[in-house]
Amino acid sequence: MGKPALTDLVQTSLPNDQVKSVVDEYASFHAGTVETRKTNYTKMVNDYYDLVTDFYEFGWGQSFHFAPRHKGEAFDASIARHEFFLASALQLKPGMKALDVGCGVGGPMRAIARFSGASIVGVNNNDYQIKRGTKQNQDAGLAQRCEFMKADFMKLPATNGGYDAVYAIEATCHAPDKVKLFTELFRVMKDGAHFAGYEWCLTDRYDGSNVEHRAIKKGIEEGDALPDIWYTQDVLDALTKAGFEIVESRDLAPESDPETPWYLPLSGRWSVTGFKHTQAGRWLTNKLVRVLETTKIAPKGSTAVSTFLNHGANALVLGGETGIFTPMFYFHVRKPAARKA
Ligand SMILES: C[S@@+](CC[C@H](N)C(=O)[O-])C[C@H]1O[C@@H](n2cnc3c(N)ncnc32)[C@H](O)[C@@H]1O
Repeated sequence: MGKPALTDLVQTSLPNDQVKSVVDEYASFHAGTVETRKTNYTKMVNDYYDLVTDFYEFGWGQSFHFAPRHKGEAFDASIARHEFFLASALQLKPGMKALDVGCGVGGPMRAIARFSGASIVGVNNNDYQIKRGTKQNQDAGLAQRCEFMKADFMKLPATNGGYDAVYAIEATCHAPDKVKLFTELFRVMKDGAHFAGYEWCLTDRYDGSNVEHRAIKKGIEEGDALPDIWYTQDVLDALTKAGFEIVESRDLAPESDPETPWYLPLSGRWSVTGFKHTQAGRWLTNKLVRVLETTKIAPKGSTAVSTFLNHGANALVLGGETGIFTPMFYFHVRKPAARKA
């Protein structure tokens, strides 16, 4: 199973006659309130990933996240370094069993398994991504150490205290209740085990009374299936409430070279290798998808998917440029060690 071609976009994830109705349902959740999105989070998130997974793989690759980037560093190298950073923080090594929370098609899971030698269970609630990722694990020769668990991360079908470590890359932002999610992850971890992740957050520069800031936040929520976006401190408070001890936390966005911010791949700058995810590349993809839809090669609704992804991408760039938003608030926490009797 290779990368999807342009003509595959949205055709493989859903039957053609369902695409338009799923797009409409997804839009209806964002016409409602935060509560509407929290109540319908399973449908909203699954609709979204059914619609966009092929676009993500086509435009971005098998790892669905951003990364801070240094001068002269290639996009793929920055993505891998961001993954290995978490593996190092957790000190993953052969013999350990880690949980990857909201694992996408498993790009980070495979990279981290190779890097660390650990075994990894990736939890995901999206059938289509699991189907693609399972084949990719086999193709990579990693099926022995990388497996998918089809489940809602809010209620894991896992026993207490089974995991040596947990990580989450840009996935807990979809949770309807972060304290509940972190409490659930705490439950499945061994005493003394560590949890690290990257969370999508508002920074202290976000001002809820500023109309432009609110529009950017809404654009990111709509473009990326989020119920809401929290301040960094609220995420730390939720981790503490769940019982974790904070080891370390900081926003990694300022660690990019000023010339290569995390949102650069989505912005207007020309890049031959990354052309598909630049503004021009996304505009061209959108026009080509429209031609495919008009000629009935792509199903009705395909252009709407490409369009709302473009709006989301533009909001992310604005969030990055204004500094009111980060997709890489890094946290590293620990479940307290068991007390000796
Ligand atoms: C932005 S993607 C990140 C994927 C992956 N961590 C990566 O970096 O490639 C978010 C992922 O979280 C998963 N997800 C969202 N809500 C979930 C839930 N309630 N239970 C399980 N997985 C969920 C989505 O299906 C998707 O795979």
